[in-house]
Amino acid sequence: MKPTTAHLELPFFDEVHRTLAQRLADWTVLQQVDETDDRQACKEWVRRLGAHGWLRYCVPAGPDGAWGGALDRLDSRALVVLRETLAFHSPLADFAFAMQGLGSGAITLAGTPAQQAAYLPQVASGAKIAAFALSEADAGSDAGAMTTHAMAGAGGWTINGSKTWISNGGLADFYVTFAKTDRTAGTRGITAFIVDADNGGLDSSAHIAVMSPHPLATLAFTDCRLDGRAQLGTLNGGFKLAMQTLDIFRASVAGAALGMARRALAEAVQHARTRKMFGQTLADFQLTQAKIGEMAALVDAAALLTYRAAWLRDEGERLGRNVRVTAEAAMAKMTATENAQRVIDMALQLHGGLGVKVGTKVESLYRDIRALRIYEGATEIQQLIIGKAVLQS
Ligand code: CAA
Repeated sequence: MKPTTAHLELPFFDEVHRTLAQRLADWTVLQQVDETDDRQACKEWVRRLGAHGWLRYCVPAGPDGAWGGALDRLDSRALVVLRETLAFHSPLADFAFAMQGLGSGAITLAGTPAQQAAYLPQVASGAKIAAFALSEADAGSDAGAMTTHAMAGAGGWTINGSKTWISNGGLADFYVTFAKTDRTAGTRGITAFIVDADNGGLDSSAHIAVMSPHPLATLAFTDCRLDGRAQLGTLNGGFKLAMQTLDIFRASVAGAALGMARRALAEAVQHARTRKMFGQTLADFQLTQAKIGEMAALVDAAALLTYRAAWLRDEGERLGRNVRVTAEAAMAKMTATENAQRVIDMALQLHGGLGVKVGTKVESLYRDIRALRIYEGATEIQQLIIGKAVLQS
């Protein structure tokens, strides 16, 4: 099944986005990956997405194209349409794509030329798998409350502590890790580091099983020694760097939710048109038409907020203005994930018993969407961010 393309005609998009979404939709329908083992499947998706050039949208081109990216900047609209298209086909393919971007985003934003040269081309080709290690058992929504600590020593750093809910944990080749470098300074005492997976002080073997299987682990750092060159960005500037990275990728989570919602709507429409009952099709009932109408409006409302957030950021970058899109990205992420959950639930209900049968698309979507309302900032955090922004305006 392929996504519809009418939304690509909206003025938020340029020709590059339209072409990209259509090319990717043509490519994805040909891709069948056995997703029984999520870790193997994720590796396979990274390999294919890298080999066919799609991961090149997760990093910018860099000086003379040295970083391997397809476009001059990290283009939010490209990320949104790519994630939307991938999620329509396979939420795991979307996950594999997204983590390359989120895991390397802080290197794009704040890496030294040497760090950018060492990691970004490998992310763009799929040769290295990336991860973003921010959350801890007692510091999820309250990211500033982390306790993982990095101590400065002769020529480098030593990290001790633990991170959890780390996507690509155990699979990644490197982890952009946030740790306290000044325990007394709250969010102003956090620094980012690049920790390679083969570091002897890092144990990433504690996998976490979740309802929609994807690679996830707890990381243990025990006297994990890092070269001074592993520091990413400014000392004690890590919290802002994490938030700036999330500002870019939260709008793309909305894109992924939108892709899942569009798929659920398409499945519901197809089912309603063919399912016979009481001498007519399911689609002939006004109750069905009302549900389909509500689903379509929820999808479009989410789409407009998502595309706006992505367009605003791209436009700010194009004009060289440092525009903060934190509130707009939060609105997009909150609305698209919440609406997608409702749309998928309605699609499942329209499928009747088939909707809960393992192997039916709406059944897996029902599980796939749930985590998106939590990760990269739960709905309640997005509400806080938006509320603060409105009160300060
Ligand atoms: N850009 C730049 N700076 C920012 C910023 C942004 N978007 N957001 C905050 N800041 C700055 C603030 O200006 C402030 O700066 P000063 O110290 O100079 O004043 C500083 O950061 C602290 O900001 P707050 O006082 O607002 O911080 P807070 O402690 O109240 O927390 C929060 C704010 C929004 C709740 C934040 O903690 C947050 O976003 N929490 C959710 C964390 C999250 O999204 N985790 C997801 C983990 S990643 C993941 O899920 C990936 C995966 O596995 C798939």
